[in-house]
Amino acid sequence: MAKFLVKNSVPLKGEVTISGSKNAVLPIMAAALLTDETCSIMDVPKLKDVDVMCNILSRVGANVQEDYKNNQVFIQTNKIMEYEAPYALVKRMRASVLLMGPLLARAGRARMPLPGGCAIGARPIDLHLKGFSALGAKIVENKGYGYVEAIAEDGLKGCNLYLDFPSVGATENIIMAAVLAKGTTVIENVAEEPEIVDLANFLNKMGAKIKGAGTDTIKIEGVEKLFGARHNVIPDRIETGTFMVAAAITRGNLLIKNALPDHVKPVIAKLKECGVEIEDTFDGLWVRGDLRPLIATDIKTLPYPGFPTDMQSIFMAFLATAEGKSNVIETVFENRFMHVAELERMGAKIETEDRKATITGPAPLSGAKVLATDLRAGAAVVLAGLVAEGVTEVSEVYHIERGYEDFIEKFRSIGARIERVEEKINDL
Ligand code: UD1
Repeated sequence: MAKFLVKNSVPLKGEVTISGSKNAVLPIMAAALLTDETCSIMDVPKLKDVDVMCNILSRVGANVQEDYKNNQVFIQTNKIMEYEAPYALVKRMRASVLLMGPLLARAGRARMPLPGGCAIGARPIDLHLKGFSALGAKIVENKGYGYVEAIAEDGLKGCNLYLDFPSVGATENIIMAAVLAKGTTVIENVAEEPEIVDLANFLNKMGAKIKGAGTDTIKIEGVEKLFGARHNVIPDRIETGTFMVAAAITRGNLLIKNALPDHVKPVIAKLKECGVEIEDTFDGLWVRGDLRPLIATDIKTLPYPGFPTDMQSIFMAFLATAEGKSNVIETVFENRFMHVAELERMGAKIETEDRKATITGPAPLSGAKVLATDLRAGAAVVLAGLVAEGVTEVSEVYHIERGYEDFIEKFRSIGARIERVEEKINDL
């Protein structure tokens, strides 16, 4: 297993280019199963999660060609050969649940071992199943064997549906199931994330008829057949936010290229409240944390366009270094404060009560042995390590490598002293 060694690297300076979005590319790859023609996906980030998705797609019958050097993946599926993804792969990535919608639409059947991924709360899939059921699928849950199955041998039928919570994955899965259903589907209270819009744009290029993506109501007119399409994945807004916060926490000066400011509005607003200077220029987003003392602010995570839960731990690391008291409230996931213990080991002053954390800064941070408890928490402790005295050893970095392309290389290119080493048993 690998670990990262992070040393104080204040301030970060230079420019960095944002990769394609992890959370956009995964559903788009799954959606490629909906046609027998070739789908060409561009700006694909080189990530462990993308490798896992390629593997799962091959296992269910897709011919997947990866041109990683050029960040492209080509997917073509003559016939679905398996309607179940192997547990060994599913447990490595929760997003594998996104295969259910396309498998159900194209093969009339989808079986899913209960999914894995980051350990951030219970993360049920009841809303996905509610959607499939409304579209006419029979749902069979076998808790003993740990799988759930959706069956619609005579095809799916359009329906009206209200989601109890605007779940990103459920919205995506239900859209992918509904595009080939007979008749019209209207889904209310859907997620409005940019990744949903990117998926709908891709599906519409394939011949689907989807309206309203990016609002709280989506209307889908079912079509008989979908075709191959070519698509460039949007830039990753969480990677963008991570580098913005990296500039802030190190009191640095970064030009972030290939960023879409509209997708990171809450992060921009909150960093500005703290005193960070941000300018949207032709070349990219300039983020300067070196112009004035940085101060505390309050954050509440919400579905898009609210403050993203995926930025919560990363922002908290920064708030530990800002002057004053900050409150952070997590409303999306019930167990997303695992990074607090790790940041505390480095000297951060944080008190938690239920879903609220109060951070008192600035606290002098010092290097410690810490865990990347999930993907974003991993990024949070690396950022803390960049401003800590001494060496921070971050273990379980496979979480970070699941979701950030060229993490080490990009950080080193802007002055971070960070290296990846193999962990020995004696180190643990
Ligand atoms: C996606 C993102 C993840 C992000 C999250 C919220 C991908 C691959 N992952 O995850 O990075 O943190 O959105 O922005 O895109 N829920 C239910 N029942 C369901 C589905 C969800 O109760 O059937 C709950 C979850 O437990 C959670 C909340 O809804 O509390 C949000 O989950 P959801 O929006 O579905 O997140 P994911 O799609 O899993």
